[in-house]
This record gives sequence, structure tokens and C-alpha cells, in this order.
Amino acid sequence: MALADFLASLDALAQQARDAFATANSADALEAARIEFLGAKSGHLRQVQKGLGSVEKSDKPAAGKRFNEIKGLMEQAFETAQERLAGRVRESASEPFDVTLPGQTVRVGHLHPITQTIREMKDIMGRLGFTAVEGPEIEDDWHNFEALNIPLSHPARDPLDNFYLATAEKGCQDEKPLLLRSQTSTVQIRVMEKTAPPVRIISLGRVYRPDTADATHYPMFHQIEGLLIDRGVTMADLKSVLRLFCQSYFGGDDQVHVRFRPSFFPFTEPSVEVDMNWQGGWMEMGGAGMVDPNVLRAVGYDPEEVTGFAFGLGVERICMRQHGITDIRALYQNDVRFLSQF
Ligand code: PHE
Repeated sequence: MALADFLASLDALAQQARDAFATANSADALEAARIEFLGAKSGHLRQVQKGLGSVEKSDKPAAGKRFNEIKGLMEQAFETAQERLAGRVRESASEPFDVTLPGQTVRVGHLHPITQTIREMKDIMGRLGFTAVEGPEIEDDWHNFEALNIPLSHPARDPLDNFYLATAEKGCQDEKPLLLRSQTSTVQIRVMEKTAPPVRIISLGRVYRPDTADATHYPMFHQIEGLLIDRGVTMADLKSVLRLFCQSYFGGDDQVHVRFRPSFFPFTEPSVEVDMNWQGGWMEMGGAGMVDPNVLRAVGYDPEEVTGFAFGLGVERICMRQHGITDIRALYQNDVRFLSQF
């Protein structure tokens, strides 16, 4: 075939294809045109391509080049037509719509019940004059044990009862053992080390203990720690503050009572377990007591000058009792069906 004839047939085909694509007025029609002109098996372009074989050998490079150009143009024309049709779909979607139709409800999230409880507790204690402070969750043994009057030989330091971090396991000589704090009492020390008395703080945060998870235990939970240091602070102040806290939290009910049971903590003397009367029964909230003179000395306070009380209560326990939640694990499974109830 002469080169001129080949090129002429290519040009003619390109023109026809462009017309067909440009006038297709539905996706189906466009697809039919595509198959007719660009179809891989028997489309017109494929037929013309077969003619390439019979072009003079010396003309082949020119013929091939032009073929590729035309093929590109035809494909482009097809894509333009596709976009034109898609645009029409978009246009029809933006046609006036019935504003009286019910809208789609947007699901709005909310704070986790534990976060809500924490905020409420901060509010209440803030009104009683306690400032909220934070401390690190990775602690050294001075703040978690030593300064809290828990000596090296004390069973509370047992590796089975604490999450020690790898530095301690490797037994690095100069490195102090580090652990995930097992109680928020660590923050008492951090605050007292930096502040001269009087001190009136609360600290709310996560603590970690290697407990097997069950309905009432979880290896991570939250505590609210309170500390008040001043001249002449007594156990009566502790009880009043805890009772006011419980009454505010559970709704200003005169029937809310706080009960102390004798107990032992290395960092308080005397020490008590704190129970609260609620809905006809006693609910255990945590521990408390008068700050041990050894602790005051460890942070450079003079126990002859100042005294103070401290308490540490379980946030989950209080939140669970308030909402009637019976399994602590439900708080940490992130099941929206559960969480959306609060
Ligand atoms: N830190 C104690 C615990 O985790 C609670 C506590 C805090 C007791 C402050 C007395 C004073 O069990």
C-alpha cells in the first residue's frame, strides 16, 4: 500500500471516531463507539493497523509514527467524551432537591465515661481548693517506693506486682530501675519536692499493676490522689473533705456517709480504707491516712511543723458504681454500643 493511501485512511478514521465520540449522548452509546473504533479485536483502528504490513519497508517508520499519533488522538477524544458524560451526571445531581426531605443524622461522639468522671472529680475538688497536677507514668523507684517509705526489702516492690522496665531487668549498675507507676502517690513526692508547704493538690491518672483482667481488675486503671499539707491538719479534715467530695459527686445527698476502717500503708500513719455508704451498702473507694513523718522528711519538710493527709481512690470503681457498670473490661473494649450509653 502506498504511504499516502495509508495516511489518508488513518486521517479519515480519526475524523469519524472523533465525531462518533463527540455525539454519543449516553454511556452506552459511547461504549458502543469505543468498541467500533478502538476495539482491540476488530475495531476500525485495528483493521487499519493491519494495512501497516503492506506499506513499503522504507515508509514503515513514518507510517508507524503517524499511526501512534492518531491512536493517541482517538483515545483522547474518547476520554474527553467520557468526562463530558460524567459531568452531566454531576450536573443532574446538583439539580434542585426537596428541602423538606428528612436529613441524614450525623453521629456525634462524646467523652469516654472515665474522662467524664475525671473531669467531674477535678471540678468538685477544684471547688474545695485543690489544684490538679500531673506526674509521669514512667517512674523511678525513689518516687514510686523509696520516698514513700517503701524500703528495698518491702514486698510491694516485688517484680511480680509491678511493671518494671527493661533497664532494671538488665541490671544496669548505674541505671535506676524504672517502672510504670503502680500508684499516683508518686505525684505527692514530686509536688512536695518542688513546693514549700502548704500544699493542696489532686492528681488524676493511670496506674499499672500486672493483674489478670477480670470483672473487677484490669492491668491499667485510674486513681485520684489527694494531698493536703499544712499546720494542724487532722484526720477530721480528711474525713470532711472525702465526705464533701462524695456528696457532691453522688448528688448532695445527706445520706452519703464515709466510713474509715483501720489499715496499713507505708506512707501514711495512721492509715485507713475508705468506704462510702451508697444505695444501702458500703462501697470500698480506696485508701487514705495521715502522711507518715518519714515521707515528710524525705522531701525536706519538718514533721514537727506541718502535718497532712493523703488519699488515693479508684476512679473506675466510682464510675462503675455510679453508672451500674458491672465489668471493668467493658470500659476498655471500645465497643461503641456500650460507650454511647454514657
Ligand atoms: N496509694 C495507695 C494505693 O494505691 C492508696 C493511698 C493513697 C493510700 C494515699 C493512702 C494515701 O493503694
